[in-house]
Amino acid sequence: MNSGPIHSPPVAAVEAPRADLIDRLVSLSKQRGFVFPSSEIYGGINALYDFGPLGTRMRRNIRNRWWRAMIELRDDIEPIETSIIMNPQVWVASGHVAGFADPLVDCTGRCRKRWRADHIANERAERGKDPAVVACPECDGRLTEARQFNLMFKTFVGPVEDAAAQVYLRPETAQGMFVNFANVLNATRRRLPFGIAQNGRSFRNEISPGNFIFRLREFEQMEMEYFCKPGTDEELFAYWCDERLRWFIEDLGVRRDRLRLRPHEKGELAHYAKAANDVEYLFPFGWSELEGIANRTDFDLRAHQEHSGRDLSYFDADANERVIPYVIEPAVGVDRIFITLLCDAYDEEEVRGEKRVVMHLHPDVAPVQVAVLPLSKRAELCEVAGRLEHELRPRFATEYDETQSIGRRYRRQDEIGTPLAITVDFDSLEDHGVTIRERDGMTQVRVPMTGLADALRDQLEESRGRSLHRAAGSESSG
Ligand code: GAP
Repeated sequence: MNSGPIHSPPVAAVEAPRADLIDRLVSLSKQRGFVFPSSEIYGGINALYDFGPLGTRMRRNIRNRWWRAMIELRDDIEPIETSIIMNPQVWVASGHVAGFADPLVDCTGRCRKRWRADHIANERAERGKDPAVVACPECDGRLTEARQFNLMFKTFVGPVEDAAAQVYLRPETAQGMFVNFANVLNATRRRLPFGIAQNGRSFRNEISPGNFIFRLREFEQMEMEYFCKPGTDEELFAYWCDERLRWFIEDLGVRRDRLRLRPHEKGELAHYAKAANDVEYLFPFGWSELEGIANRTDFDLRAHQEHSGRDLSYFDADANERVIPYVIEPAVGVDRIFITLLCDAYDEEEVRGEKRVVMHLHPDVAPVQVAVLPLSKRAELCEVAGRLEHELRPRFATEYDETQSIGRRYRRQDEIGTPLAITVDFDSLEDHGVTIRERDGMTQVRVPMTGLADALRDQLEESRGRSLHRAAGSESSG
């Protein structure tokens, strides 16, 4: 890796992914089984998606990478899982009932569409219209005055649908950590600084969702609240910004030149934050938020202490005083990482006069790591290949495929980002060897079946190296 502060801006001009990439990803995702529109046979439902067999595997890998970096490799962060529906007072205390709102305007002209007031200029520019004119981006109709629209979904607990029974679907997982701060502290006897992390579904009734799975109404977050002594917060904020940027590059293989840290302007800061940086990725539709890192100060613990009447302070034995800890929060969405990885990995090349679509996915997020392919459907080959795949299953994410020509099966594996493919051919029956084909360079090596698992382990390690090289070296493609 390059030395020096990892968050320094890239020097070279950045090449954005191709403009039509999202359309290509939508169709590839549907065709190969990454992402399907939710309840599609009924016409779908806006900003809600289902994940297919490959997408589900890949999401699990993304979560595992995060879990490994946040929980397994550290000794200062505790995991937690809290309920989606919480006591509604949580959202009063956190400020969400009063302030978790977007400004909304309606078109009074022909199309009658509803827009976010702060998105009008962008939406008009995207349609080739003058962004300085305040009018409907679709039909140029007059817009109503902006009014605040709360993004929390409401529902009821119990049989009576009245105000007393009204609850919310959580719009973030973070509050689960704050309201359990004292429980975790008592149960683990932790000393500051330490973190509490969780991964789970969140819900927001977004006014202008879009760009495939970029902004969803139901999505999955991975959030961590790092509790620390007041006064140490600024240094830890800088630490977590570097650490999270490093994670995207080294653990997920995201290209460094398409990542940047963007500090929030004063007027843009959330009500709870003293400072915030977005990790942004250069999507085909421009630089947009991938992860948010915020210095939430003692806002949340103090607010919950006041509203609940419970003591949420921490006894600092060194200073012999009670303090309300400050909090640094790195918060990211699984779906947001998912779309980033697809955008970042997608590539088209010409190979022997034919177009090859290849996903340069990091081997630890790819839904399949090793494909096992008999050269043809001949029973002897299928039997050996089937047995090999069965043996490799406990160690790698494998897939067995005997359909179509070998060339087409290689293409399919390239398209879904499988780093290695093993081919069992007629020689295998004699020499007990197989061919390992590597995705990126399409190079092939012959290895004996005995010791195949070790050879694959070594090749995956090389694939990790190539992924890091691509991410750090910023080779251009896509
Ligand atoms: N607890 C702080 C918090 O929720 P946020 O910036 O609103 O902060 C954190 O959300 C992350 O969650 C975002 O950076 C993004 O990755 C993801 N996220 C937020 N809203 C989303 C949505 N509507 N669809 C998909 N992902 C979303």
